[in-house]
Amino acid sequence: MSAPLEDTADDVATGIAAGYAFTGPALDLGSVVHGGAPHPDAQVRVPLSMMTQHGLIAGATGTGKTKTLQLLAEQLSAQGVPVVLADVKGDLTGLSRPGEPGDRITARATGTADAWTATGYPVEYLALGGLGTGVPVRSTITSFGPVLLSKVMGLNKTQESSLGLVFHYADAAGLPLLDLKDLRSVISWLVSDEGKADLQGLGGLSKATAGVILRELIALDDLGGDVFFGEPEWDTADLMRTAPDGRGVISSVELSAVQDRPALFSTFLMWLLADLFEDLPEVGEVDKPKLVFFFDEAHLLFTGASTAFLDSVTQTVRLIRSKGVGVFFVTQNPTDVPTAVLGQLGNRVQHALRAFTPDDATALKKTVKTYPKSDAYDIAETLTSLGTGEAIVTVLSERGAPTPVAWTMLRAPRSFMGAVEPAQLQAAVAASALLPRYGAAVDRESAYERLATRLAPPPTAPTPAPAVRVGDVGGGPARTGPREGDSGRPRQAAGTSGL
Ligand SMILES: Nc1ncnc2c1ncn2[C@@H]1O[C@H](COP(=O)(O)OP(=O)(O)OP(=O)(O)O)[C@@H](O)[C@H]1O
Ligand SMILES: [Mg+2]
Repeated sequence: MSAPLEDTADDVATGIAAGYAFTGPALDLGSVVHGGAPHPDAQVRVPLSMMTQHGLIAGATGTGKTKTLQLLAEQLSAQGVPVVLADVKGDLTGLSRPGEPGDRITARATGTADAWTATGYPVEYLALGGLGTGVPVRSTITSFGPVLLSKVMGLNKTQESSLGLVFHYADAAGLPLLDLKDLRSVISWLVSDEGKADLQGLGGLSKATAGVILRELIALDDLGGDVFFGEPEWDTADLMRTAPDGRGVISSVELSAVQDRPALFSTFLMWLLADLFEDLPEVGEVDKPKLVFFFDEAHLLFTGASTAFLDSVTQTVRLIRSKGVGVFFVTQNPTDVPTAVLGQLGNRVQHALRAFTPDDATALKKTVKTYPKSDAYDIAETLTSLGTGEAIVTVLSERGAPTPVAWTMLRAPRSFMGAVEPAQLQAAVAASALLPRYGAAVDRESAYERLATRLAPPPTAPTPAPAVRVGDVGGGPARTGPREGDSGRPRQAAGTSGL
């Protein structure tokens, strides 16, 4: 390359980087690429305060999305911000372990002017219902609610509103819905001869629809749904912690064991987010987010979603910002995310897109249109020629204006890129301070027990389960009983309620 051309590329890079010169704290994404080379002095960053303006990390498979997520999670943690992330493949477990230096890391560090040092971060591993290795996270059926539950079961609109009626009925009748068998017994009651009057009183719930919902619930149970629902319910405050050294705790929801149940796990993540929204106070604009949530494989959340579900996602994403929470969606194509949600994602890291098929070409065109105009790059061409760990970036400046489009070489994560050994993971979970509280499931008296006295024979499989189940924490030493003060009661107490 001749000298004048290099100068020009350097000037362009410097010009772009000027749009990223923020005064407050920021996360370092990497350096501007122009004229075929990175310009280490031209830094691309995102203001910490703008992380509540949400974001999108997109790109074809293998282009670097998960590593970008890892990089952002690390820097948030370092700045004292707690992070929740969906670890779909288990390749984010390495966050707790220092990375391994090597030629590639060195080259990337040089290209991005990064004083790279191998670093491990404080990570709490969580697992839905204890399936997989992690502290079990559970939700009660009531807290999950009819809209999310309908999404999990793939119910249609009519069935969804019928399920809403069932929840309403249970609430009014003083029948707590904690786990799946509670919900099953309430519906069984409504379709029974004894419950006929109640069903008619509800209006709008047909016996046939109730039957369909009941069948879907049984199917969900068969899929292992029973371990996700129940108590002790997850306390949102446990996601908002900082380590003794002041760094934010990264809560990594380990999903590899439930990968084959995408509707279940994606909806569960949405519940976690909705729960955060409900519990957190309004804070308005913040200098530093209270928490940032990364939704990997986000397309799963939106496929086959009902209008009610999409509305609730859109609403949550829009409003949670004022509670100081940022949400980042990670997916292959921006078009995977509904427009109403996409429009709210202020920060964009777009990795390479493929243009193999006509569908690819259409998606590419649509993506290009969503970017601000750029004098420095042909965006369509750039999107198909980005290298691994490179992306087209535009974020919101501290004033809330979109920054210039920057072809960016991303920094390398400082933690280990990949999965830690299962034994290490198990040891971390076994040592978790949260395990004593969440390790064991508790089966409290609720709708099932209360209705069991009214209905004979009992509505669901009558196999007597032990009052307390030990959560599967992936082989780590688990506790065997409820802690003191737990509200768990032996099943024999069933029927003593005043119903
Ligand atoms: N910022 C980066 N620094 C160093 N290496 C990177 C970076 N980004 C990507 N890589 C390299 O590219 C590989 C693939 O990246 P990654 O796993 O993030 O892709 P992905 O887009 O999440 O893929 P998939 O869609 O299959 O999950 C990594 O294993 C790593 O070797
Ligand atoms: Mg990935």
